[in-house]
Amino acid sequence: LRRVPRFELVNWVVENMASAKYKMGGSEAIGDGGTLAMMDWEAVVDEANRHHGYAYESHREVTGALSGVLGVPEGEALLTMGTSEANAIVMQLLCREGTNVVVDLPAYQPLPELPGLYGARTVPVPRYMEEGWRLDLQRVQEVVTSTTVAIFTSNLHNPTGAALMREDLRALADIAADAKATLVVDEIFRPYVEDDNMVPPARSLVPEAITTGSVSKVYAWAATRLGWISAPAETVGEARNLKWLVAPTFGLPNTAMARQLIPLMPQLRDRARAIARRGMDVVGEWIDSREDVTWVPPYAGIICFPRFEGVGDSVSLARRALEEHGVMTSPGEFFGLPGHLRIGVGHPDLEHVREGLRLLGETLDSM
Ligand SMILES: Cc1ncc(COP(=O)(O)O)c(C=O)c1O
Repeated sequence: LRRVPRFELVNWVVENMASAKYKMGGSEAIGDGGTLAMMDWEAVVDEANRHHGYAYESHREVTGALSGVLGVPEGEALLTMGTSEANAIVMQLLCREGTNVVVDLPAYQPLPELPGLYGARTVPVPRYMEEGWRLDLQRVQEVVTSTTVAIFTSNLHNPTGAALMREDLRALADIAADAKATLVVDEIFRPYVEDDNMVPPARSLVPEAITTGSVSKVYAWAATRLGWISAPAETVGEARNLKWLVAPTFGLPNTAMARQLIPLMPQLRDRARAIARRGMDVVGEWIDSREDVTWVPPYAGIICFPRFEGVGDSVSLARRALEEHGVMTSPGEFFGLPGHLRIGVGHPDLEHVREGLRLLGETLDSM
């Protein structure tokens, strides 16, 4: 058997999120009665009744709408099962033995892990809190080689919420182009950014780039698993061939839901942005009140990555907060950096966030 790395964050979330009282371990805007009520469930049942399992009708319709949703030419977008499958397909297409992929750390674990699944080596580039979690382009330039096939990053960055600005994206694209490598940007969190001009979708600046995304986080509808690859037409063609050989269709409830979701995306995005702004203000107040916690606020979004002074083992800290108070956060170790917790403020009830942080403080005080 091949050995496959364990995805620590997902194991942690699957084990603990359902029973946690204060849900601050995830990175999604959390839906509520209002978001559920947006869905016409009868229409979902109706499509299920008219067809028999396979999602032909709504799959075709959502696929047809996708390039319009993403603002890219027809033929430059492919429907995938979340950003997860999108990232895996892209890396599978680009990587082979003897190549490498440049990935910045800390990171959402699949980014540094996927290249290794497809025969390539990951070349890490560190980001530091002391530098505002900025991606140092000079450092990227220094590690790119003639065998680099991709620079693979997330924007907004998970776990820190740092942004790649317009000029950063251009510079990264130039570094990639000089090496004949592809710039791949996971943009699952980018729609939290309110000013597209400052932090544009990578492909609006660099048409040869590949981006991935989904409705899982900003749009609060991970339940649909609606995700995508946005890429030049030739890449999308190969990605489609690969996807269709492995897993050609979707579950019918998913595409029937996704069809309804597309016109609601602007409304859901505005909801998430408001949740993020309010929640981060509460985190800022809490951190100001403590001497043992420091941070760089995220550029936008609902996740941040504070440092806990004197804490070497943040898995133990997270476990204690969970066991003592039901407060779920995500340990920095799962992103490659102990001493930090990733805290998500996606819950729409501010009191939930406030109380979760107060109780996390109680755990810290008792250590
Ligand atoms: C950067 C990043 N990419 C991809 C994913 C997975 O997204 P999806 O649920 O759409 O598969 C996540 C989930 O946390 C993420 O943070």
